[in-house]
Amino acid sequence: MKIACLPGDGIGAEVAAAARDVLSVLVPELEVEEHVFGGAAILARGTPLPDETLAACRDADAVLLGAVGLPQYDAADVRPEQGLIGLRKALDVYANLRPARQKPIDLIVVRELVGGLYYGPKGTRDDGTVFDTLEYHPSQVQRIAHRAFALARRRHGQVTSVDKANVLETSRMWRRVVNEVAADYADVRLEHMLVDTAAMQLVTAPERFDVILTENTFGDILSDEASAVTGGLGLAASASLGDDGPGIFEPVHGSAPDIAGRGVANPAAMLRSAALMLEHGLDLPAEAEKLSAAVDSAIDRAPTKDLGGNATTHEMVAAVLIALER
Ligand code: IPM
Ligand code: MG
Repeated sequence: MKIACLPGDGIGAEVAAAARDVLSVLVPELEVEEHVFGGAAILARGTPLPDETLAACRDADAVLLGAVGLPQYDAADVRPEQGLIGLRKALDVYANLRPARQKPIDLIVVRELVGGLYYGPKGTRDDGTVFDTLEYHPSQVQRIAHRAFALARRRHGQVTSVDKANVLETSRMWRRVVNEVAADYADVRLEHMLVDTAAMQLVTAPERFDVILTENTFGDILSDEASAVTGGLGLAASASLGDDGPGIFEPVHGSAPDIAGRGVANPAAMLRSAALMLEHGLDLPAEAEKLSAAVDSAIDRAPTKDLGGNATTHEMVAAVLIALER
């Protein structure tokens, strides 16, 4: 078993080191190779996704990713985020699962990850107009919808498909295809919800959701919101899966340049992403379960600043290791 670890930028390096420490105790036989990615790769190699990094990811059983983004590149032509967007596409990890749990809330955002606005034709016309385009092929909707229904079947049996069908053509097609796929899952309840309503309900009644199925941009926004109502970005993990090949496992948070390098980043989102990797990427459900429980305990015993405590990254990792020993 071999994983490619891409620490990336900012606190990515700190939380990736935390994950490596914990994994080396929990799964000692796991081989971990680090590769440059994002802003770090632009600085070292002039490109956010060097060929060797991509080749190593393709060759691994799973990719564990820290975070990308450096403020000095925010408006540059070559940006760290292009590495992430390129890697997701290259590995065709179209299903981005983002669980958000905190009593009584237990929901998961299933975000389409390799289509929509992020990948449609974009550019500048002669008159100065700048455009991004939102495109989906029905087959892209079909495969993500299947994922969401199959997942709902193993959870609480409800899918909320989120779109903007009162305005967008792509959303009307999305609804039609989701309805077609739903026919294969008679035991799962399906509802459609407009994205603005969903944004509101996530704040006012988050416990009403089980599986939220949505397109790339809506999913980006709603998953941050879901994390905010369940303890914040410091706890939110994600798994990005394709049909075969390695998945990408990464925290929902970014590189947090404001606190980077100070040893105070909350490693919980990364450790929960590592747990998702053990479960979905390496087929080690027992180890995944153990790690999740240890992280839950460390969140209670050694909370970092974002959680209202004062533990450092290192202290939370130590609390995880103690919980694992028990
Ligand atoms: C996320 C992030 C990325 C995205 C950025 C860093 C490109 O916000 O994973 O949610 O928009 O997908
Ligand atoms: Mg995001």
